[in-house]
Amino acid sequence: MDIMEQKRSAAKYSLSFIPRSGIVGIGTGSTVKYLIDLIGENTDYFREVTFVPTSIQTEYLLREYGLNVTVSFKGKMLLDIDGADEIDTQGNLIKGGGGALTREKIVAYNSEEFIVIADSGKYVSQLGKFKLPIEILPFLADQTIENIRNLGASVQLKDSGSFVTDNGNLIAIADFGMMKDPASVARSLSVIPGIVENGLFINMTTRAIEGTEASIREHVYFRKNGE
Ligand code: A5P
Repeated sequence: MDIMEQKRSAAKYSLSFIPRSGIVGIGTGSTVKYLIDLIGENTDYFREVTFVPTSIQTEYLLREYGLNVTVSFKGKMLLDIDGADEIDTQGNLIKGGGGALTREKIVAYNSEEFIVIADSGKYVSQLGKFKLPIEILPFLADQTIENIRNLGASVQLKDSGSFVTDNGNLIAIADFGMMKDPASVARSLSVIPGIVENGLFINMTTRAIEGTEASIREHVYFRKNGE
């Protein structure tokens, strides 16, 4: 299978994990677009499900199919399904290539199960080849970028600063090189004021579905308490 077929087959496989009723998070990106189209072909089957979209783009696609959507849910979602830009052997992720990382992280954090769907090219032994997206406030953005640089990264603004997130913020793209300890990078970023959220999803994934050249590979991870 080529890359697009791998994305589609991972998306198709994940369909069976969606319950017939309840609240389900839905991510953003080209792999998730396949999933939304497959859900959209079965709107009757999913009529008792309410979806929490991780971006305006996803919300629009879900609403176009007439699916139930909410953006003001309180509590734990049963499940969230999303794509990723890189997945390491522990299930840690780099996300945010589409700029939706903050809403994606909120939804993933508040879901009992977080399933990642991705083609085989996204699976890596160490995170870092894909540069890390970081959502930052426009207020004193240059200083926030300087503070990220001081952690040892080279940093640019996505689309030279013309990209604006659904939350009205900017995306800094940080190159930390290959990350031996992505959790420590995430912790260092989390104390810099002006950073809304970073694209490192540590210890959040419970399952990943990999579209491979031949078929599907399923990876199961266990969230460690206290991380
Ligand atoms: C969106 O902000 C990202 O986190 C996407 O989930 C990620 O870029 C995967 O996108 P594709 O499914 O298009 O590869």
